[in-house]
Amino acid sequence: AGTLGSAAAAKGRYFGAAVSAQYLGEAGYVSTLDREFGSVTPENEMKWDAVEATRGTFAFGPADRIVAHAQGRGMSVRGHTLVWHSQLPDWVAGLGASDLRSAMNHHITQVMQHYKGKVLAWDVVNEAFQDGGSGARRSSPFQDKLGNGFIEEAFRTARAADPAAKLCYNDYNTDGVNAKSNAVYAMVKDFKARGVPIDCVGFQSHFNSASPVPADYRANLQRFADLGVDVQITELDIEGSGSAQATAYGNVVGACLAVSRCTGITVWGVTDKYSWRSAGTPLLFDGSYTKKPAYDAVLAAL
Ligand code: XIL
Repeated sequence: AGTLGSAAAAKGRYFGAAVSAQYLGEAGYVSTLDREFGSVTPENEMKWDAVEATRGTFAFGPADRIVAHAQGRGMSVRGHTLVWHSQLPDWVAGLGASDLRSAMNHHITQVMQHYKGKVLAWDVVNEAFQDGGSGARRSSPFQDKLGNGFIEEAFRTARAADPAAKLCYNDYNTDGVNAKSNAVYAMVKDFKARGVPIDCVGFQSHFNSASPVPADYRANLQRFADLGVDVQITELDIEGSGSAQATAYGNVVGACLAVSRCTGITVWGVTDKYSWRSAGTPLLFDGSYTKKPAYDAVLAAL
């Protein structure tokens, strides 16, 4: 049998996993990662609180270990994430507007320049829109102090910092056509019309029984692709088990492959035992790194 990474590569896509530096010493974790995946996303190590906990002091050790591991094995890297309201150090929220603008641009520039040439795509801005029907921006230090223009500014700064990196907007509950995805769609359309640099949109795709794979998932990916951006499934996990979970995973892979600009899929972890959804079993390998039915369904769909 093939592997997820090689099967996806044969279709011109990558298949990746979120990785935590703390597990890179665990043999089963590393052998599964290295055998199956062609891309990695640091699960927490590139977030603002990890790399710039103190203003102006950058710490890249754990993220560097993940990037070095990936580079040594020919895997690509997704950078996650530069501007996000969560896992943000308190000092950022305490700044006034002009200081915050400088800090945001400095952060983007320093982190992207550190990884220049090593990160294929960056989630420049993560989760800037509210859930629900309003289509409004989410309250955050960036939104509240800098206004709607902070996203555009972040993308322009990112393009200047590493012109070769793909620049993505990433969010959740935008997987189907709904008020939130409509709001993101309008923003991307506006960016493309005005020449604001954006290359890709990430769809986190955290699914469970309350939030299943939407029936219009493929159509939603396609409408974004039709704006002239790549789309990527960036944080896929699906609660459940057995054949229902396997079917849902197969549907997600099928939706991506049906969209020519869907360039890759990342699952949000290697093994159920380290999933951020610690109560569930949402990934492709169980706690012993045994392939689950969901794994077989993904491989069959690729
Ligand atoms: C999660 C990580 O998986 C956890 O380890 C951490 O405690 C919290 O963040 N959306 C995102 C990811 O963009 O960064 C989040 O990752 C999951 C939701």
